[in-house]
Amino acid sequence: MTRGSLVDISKLRVIFHTYRGTIKALNGVELWLNEEERLGVVGETGCGKSVTALSIMRLIEQPGEIIDGKIWFNGKDLLQLSEDEMDKVRGRQISMIFQEPIAALNPVFKVGFQIAETIAHSQNISINDAYTQVREALEMVGLDWQRTIDLYAHELSGGMAQRVMIAMALAVRPKLLIADEPTSALDVTIQAQILELLDKLVSVGKNAVILITHDLGIASEFCDRVAVMYAGNVIEVAPSQEIFNEPLHPYTKGLIDSIPVVGRAKELTGIAGVVPDLVDPPSGCRFHPRCKHAFERCNLELPELVQIKANHYVACHLYH
Ligand SMILES: Nc1ncnc2c1ncn2[C@@H]1O[C@H](COP(=O)(O)OP(=O)(O)O)[C@@H](O)[C@H]1O
Ligand code: SF4
Ligand SMILES: [Mg+2]
Repeated sequence: MTRGSLVDISKLRVIFHTYRGTIKALNGVELWLNEEERLGVVGETGCGKSVTALSIMRLIEQPGEIIDGKIWFNGKDLLQLSEDEMDKVRGRQISMIFQEPIAALNPVFKVGFQIAETIAHSQNISINDAYTQVREALEMVGLDWQRTIDLYAHELSGGMAQRVMIAMALAVRPKLLIADEPTSALDVTIQAQILELLDKLVSVGKNAVILITHDLGIASEFCDRVAVMYAGNVIEVAPSQEIFNEPLHPYTKGLIDSIPVVGRAKELTGIAGVVPDLVDPPSGCRFHPRCKHAFERCNLELPELVQIKANHYVACHLYH
């Protein structure tokens, strides 16, 4: 049985071979979503958000390696597809936008050509035929198409470049859009505009979305459910309001306690200690060295992500 009708990731393990040793980056990630659903993925830098996204796209490259797990998407295990089959999934059914839009665009081709090429690939048509759809794609994201079509990536502002990326990603009408920190590199005012635009377009397009962000506030505002990651595991998943109002995992509670409250500077009392080194991660629950509630079992056994109530899952021995 799959838990989500569109995506169901289970026991996903990814490592990176480095001169320092093997980085155990993903330690059995569990994540799922339904068609048209929006899932936020939050957690501190290095917890495995991008590696999870790149695994779905099957873009983990040397020195990285997916060593275990399943990624069901639309009824198929992506990890079992041939490179050709995966190429059709990528850019047709799943598309992705990144934190650094200017870097993600090709520097040597004009914006119009890049959009046309993406559309051509997704619909299996010629670039010439695809050009007829470029205007619509650019207008959809609020750009003046005549001005934008002949520009190169370096001639765009960050906000414009992210609009172009969104145009490319959504022009192919993907079932799933993965947005990896799409606004983190932008000015605050531009961030809000881009999120608003995304919100509008995915509502119209009925795309499912995985929104990766380190900002729990953004995730819960934009998404139906939020998954919290810590050191290579999803440690809690719940509907957006519920994760705020009734967090269960000690790490999630700490995260929420450390969010500054408007009008009064709140101390960062949340979580003592530092994120562990994933070359030599803590045994059992990877959060145990920082957890106020840790007991004997915690450094012996990795807690599984289990359902505690409707739609609310947590990976912590306190609840088993
Ligand atoms: N190309 C790489 N080479 C070595 N280690 C990597 C590479 N990419 C990611 N990692 C490691 O994998 C872990 C998860 O990284 P990542 O998914 O990028 O975190 P984030 O949650 O910030 O997106 C980190 O420990 C990171 O150092
Ligand atoms: S499993 Fe133990 S160490 Fe981990 S969060 Fe729960 S109580 Fe803390
Ligand atoms: Mg990242």
